[in-house]
Amino acid sequence: MRQSPLVVVAHRLPIDDSVAPDGACEWRRSPGGLVSALHPLLRDTPATWVGWAGGTGPAPHLPDVDGVRMHSVPLTGDELRDHYEGFANATLWPLYHDAVEHPEYHRRWWEAYQRVNQRFAEAAAEVAEPGGLVWVQDYHLQLVPGLLRELRPDLRIGFFLHVPFPPPELFMQLPRRAELLRGMLGADLVGFQRAQAAHNFAQLAAKVLQLPATDRRIAVGDRVVRIGAFPVSIDTAEMSALAARPEVVDRADRLRQDLGGPEHVILSVDRMDYTKGIEQRLKAYRELLASGDVKVRDTVLIQVAVPSRERVARYQILRDRVEHQVGRINGEFGRVGEPAIHYLTQPFDRAELAALYRIADVMAVTPLRDGMNLVAKEYVAARVDDTGALLLSEFAGAAAELPQAYLVNPHDLEGLKQELLRALRATPEDVAARMRAMRDHLRHNDIHAWAGSYLSALEESGSLLGRRV
Ligand code: UDP
Ligand code: G6P
Repeated sequence: MRQSPLVVVAHRLPIDDSVAPDGACEWRRSPGGLVSALHPLLRDTPATWVGWAGGTGPAPHLPDVDGVRMHSVPLTGDELRDHYEGFANATLWPLYHDAVEHPEYHRRWWEAYQRVNQRFAEAAAEVAEPGGLVWVQDYHLQLVPGLLRELRPDLRIGFFLHVPFPPPELFMQLPRRAELLRGMLGADLVGFQRAQAAHNFAQLAAKVLQLPATDRRIAVGDRVVRIGAFPVSIDTAEMSALAARPEVVDRADRLRQDLGGPEHVILSVDRMDYTKGIEQRLKAYRELLASGDVKVRDTVLIQVAVPSRERVARYQILRDRVEHQVGRINGEFGRVGEPAIHYLTQPFDRAELAALYRIADVMAVTPLRDGMNLVAKEYVAARVDDTGALLLSEFAGAAAELPQAYLVNPHDLEGLKQELLRALRATPEDVAARMRAMRDHLRHNDIHAWAGSYLSALEESGSLLGRRV
């Protein structure tokens, strides 16, 4: 077994065996922020990525991709159902997103969660070189830091949560709350998207585990665990360069022509997830069409909603409801050759997304709760001529960094309608001033800055212990 100085552990590998029918493997840019964030960092880095390759049964042997070794962890069908679809996506996901859907609690799911976390910890222990660095990602693997520390105390261990970390009154619902906190505290550094999340975590460590905790440090026996906010970002320069490429500019021109050259294009790009506020947004749009404030003649809404977690019941229900809503709106307000909503469920590659971002006069990103939302940042990066209005939910992590966006509370239907109209009717000067400020922020706060600050904090966390630097 070859060993690596840097090991990333995430539930999913960024490729899966199904994309390599001819034996050639490419990064699978799954429509999810985790892979989008880590891809530009790891490309051509001598690292190992430990994760699940899709499918069940024995782990497939996957080739290196762009210099990164793929180490696949096998999962059985039952484990997938109880760990990924169950505890991760029907307990933790809704709970961590303000319980906008009811979290479900089942003992069998917890058992599978423990088992799968143990398997990932063992895989990481196997491939990490002595004294190496292991970076564990997200809510599927919260027990891995603690389990890995038992197996390999020589390692430096980081944990980063891509989703929100809830306030104590929600987290306290979890039947196995103490174990989950202890698992995360196996890391040397626990990173969150927002300072509020670090604060919630510190409060819980004090309340549930009676540990001395501040918003920066938690004492665990003879160790000090650092905690903090590290808002994840995008490769800003890469997205800007992609959006300026002649073929992307041509593609954007063609898309606009295909739409019949409307005065306004509104775009939304989401995974089909109930946290993204798709139903609320469509409802607001329908009311604007009904009142005549928005007219199909001159305005087009493109809704990309890529199916996600399709075996989880809530996601199936959501898709049915959204498709019903879209059908109804198109039936009521569309005209021959002029649908009110262009509804697309196929995943798009980066170049096609960049072309879509280019034609969007208004980008509507209105989740009910979101750890960050990279789509919002990608849109800003793609607006190389400082045009385009970003309508952004206050409940997306991105809102803390992009206060110049047209901010909305997506629960407030009237507010959502008014702010969408405001963005549609804004003067070019207002739009440009806001966009310039947001672009400036993202130029300096990109994914490389994120990794740099996280990894240097991880280095410091080691030195706090006097263990090594
Ligand atoms: N994405 C994509 N193709 C699509 C739709 C989305 O590659 O058709 C990408 C998008 O560019 C972004 C990521 O999926 O990088 C979504 O991340 P975000 O943080 O917005 O939301 P998440 O899905 O992680 O909740
Ligand atoms: C969010 C999560 C990621 C996850 C992604 C896609 O970004 O934070 O951990 O990978 O959604 O979801 P999926 O269930 O398809 O992996």
